[in-house]
Amino acid sequence: MADAAHAAAPQTDAPQRRAEAVLARMTLEEKAGQLHTVDASGPDPAGRLGPEIASGRIGAVINQVDPATLRELQRIAVEDSRLGVPLLVSRDVIHGFNTIFPLPIGQACSWNPDLVRDCARAAAGEAAASGVRWTFAPMVDIARDARWGRIAESLGEDPLLASILGAAMVEGFQGEDLAAPGTLAACVKHFAGYGASEGGRDYDATNIPDNELRNTYLPPFKAALKAGAASVMTSFGDIDGVPATGNAYLLGDILRGEWDFDGVVISDWDSIGQLITHGLSEDMAAAAREAAEAGVDMDMMSSAFIEHLPEMIRAGAVDEARLDAMALRVLTLKAALGLFDDPYGQAHQDAAPCVEAARDLARRAARESLVLLKNDAGALPLDFGAIDRLAVVGPMADQPYEQMGTWVFDGDETRSITPLEALQDTLGEDRVAFAPALETTRSRDRSGFKAAVEAAGMSDAVLVCLGEEAILSGEAHCRADITLPGAQLELLEALRETGKPVVAVIMAGRPLTLAPVLERVDALIYAWHAGNMAGPALVDVVCGAFSPAGKLPVSFPRSVGQIPIHYNRKNTGRPPEAERILHIDDIEVGANQTSFGMSAFHLDDGYTPQFPFGFGLSYTRFEYADLTLSADEMTRGDTVTASVTVTNAGDREGTEIVQLYIRDPAASLTRPVRELKGFQRVSLKAGERRTVRFDLTEADLAFSGRDRRVRAEAGAFEVWAGGDSTAALHARFVLRD
Ligand code: NOJ
Repeated sequence: MADAAHAAAPQTDAPQRRAEAVLARMTLEEKAGQLHTVDASGPDPAGRLGPEIASGRIGAVINQVDPATLRELQRIAVEDSRLGVPLLVSRDVIHGFNTIFPLPIGQACSWNPDLVRDCARAAAGEAAASGVRWTFAPMVDIARDARWGRIAESLGEDPLLASILGAAMVEGFQGEDLAAPGTLAACVKHFAGYGASEGGRDYDATNIPDNELRNTYLPPFKAALKAGAASVMTSFGDIDGVPATGNAYLLGDILRGEWDFDGVVISDWDSIGQLITHGLSEDMAAAAREAAEAGVDMDMMSSAFIEHLPEMIRAGAVDEARLDAMALRVLTLKAALGLFDDPYGQAHQDAAPCVEAARDLARRAARESLVLLKNDAGALPLDFGAIDRLAVVGPMADQPYEQMGTWVFDGDETRSITPLEALQDTLGEDRVAFAPALETTRSRDRSGFKAAVEAAGMSDAVLVCLGEEAILSGEAHCRADITLPGAQLELLEALRETGKPVVAVIMAGRPLTLAPVLERVDALIYAWHAGNMAGPALVDVVCGAFSPAGKLPVSFPRSVGQIPIHYNRKNTGRPPEAERILHIDDIEVGANQTSFGMSAFHLDDGYTPQFPFGFGLSYTRFEYADLTLSADEMTRGDTVTASVTVTNAGDREGTEIVQLYIRDPAASLTRPVRELKGFQRVSLKAGERRTVRFDLTEADLAFSGRDRRVRAEAGAFEVWAGGDSTAALHARFVLRD
């Protein structure tokens, strides 16, 4: 598929020339000061940091968003320091600033780069109006482990989807010109492989073979940089024995060398200091040298560069040219952001948030992030006209803060409309019987069940909002058990026993194991943490005003023991087949050991996920037919077009995300059983049919091979098209040299 990325910056080399002029006047300390990022939260930042800013020893601040405080910090930098170099003001603007959009994993369910770009744009406008000019997003770490709390912040398990959506976020944050009002410099993170941490534990070690690194984990970074991302953050992880923050192969050979990236590389929070803890560096001076020599420009929070680089340069242990290059990149970014001309972001006040527009966007984004996972006998949509009363139950039904999800330091919960509020607003308060039943998702106190069962009893249907509070996912919040916490399953059972139709809404930051939930509900909507407008979006879907169209960007495991489970797995020498799966209950006691006919599966959970990547239901039904290729042979440089007919075979309008997958069945390296190569959102009226076309070029077939060269290898290619990663329609062509 054509690359979705387009370069946002830089326009000219003027920022670099300006930076060079400043650099030429700097002392060693002032240069090292540009690399120093400090925490400006807490009381009296101007008093605490002022002297260091004035002496040129601080180049950037993080975690302060009060406009007046930022203005004062910037004033000190501009007026009281010798060279008047402005500060870079950074913040984690991850899925909204004051207005909160769905979690990135939720936004990814839309498979809609335009929407994702718009959300980033709106977030940038709000953040820049406070004085923030640099965000630590997008996170494009491939995430295949639902235990890992940061899956919430990811764009899922697929390199292409994460590439396209990550690039869209960069475009949204940065716009066409970094110096324009309402923009933020993006920082693509965490380079690289952070999502592969052992056991799904945050910060844990990763071991990623080079072919997997290059073919799975790196492509989204490359796409984000191609879209113009101004900066990169290193991963906390120890990758293949060398922590990423001191990893010259990653930062030097690949990022600076092969990819020619000349923007800013920043460490993660104290990750230079942590080179000592990892067991790589002896002391802080060695950590500073190792990080600098590997390719890190800025030090977030460890003080290693400011404390050690000048003295090491004077001692001849580090080359001054290296420090110059590091500081020049930081100064160039400041110049590109227009900070030398407009340090206070005055012009950006014009970009002050339009709360109404942001709310509309948040509602649209939330709607598109919802994934319908079960809908038995048309339990949804509910006919609001025919319902006398709806029971609204569950610990997540009325949680304006929790529905925003993780990474919402600046999120305004007063902008949230909860499912309860939205339903009361739509149906009228007397037609809603509310009983939270559990105080939090982790509560085990069942004393509220009685009221919930009574509410169900007096209603026509039950809508139960379950899940996890925001704090149960995100950084440092990993779980070993990914079932519904607390007594939520028992609550579902109690509701089930009322005999009323039960519609469950799961609000969580990760995929949960859902088998026991699915048995107890008529319909299930996976809502993630959908942000401020979760409530109205949910009502749009529940009442049928909007037919759900979201598709999963990540496979849902049946049990935690299946992890890692992802659609783009390897075939293995013994691929599992449905008809040859042996179940633990079918094994005779005392049976002889045998491996005949056995393959890569678990005796208790088979090999398929609960829900595959790309899956999501709608209120209508889409049928696929006639997958054809424009040619059954491709020569290099050619395009083969795959066409497939999609029919809306239901009785209402809907949007389908049509997906195209390929496999290279024989190559110099084993390739995944399927790889997403394209997707299109198609809206069809009832009965309408459309032929959807995907152009496949040599680039789409290419991968980093045994010799690390990216190229397509001649031979056969399999093609599938359909509505999820198990699509059955199949075709085949051959690439000839
Ligand atoms: C640590 C996180 O890993 C990173 O993603 C974030 O940007 C920094 N802290 C700054 O808050």
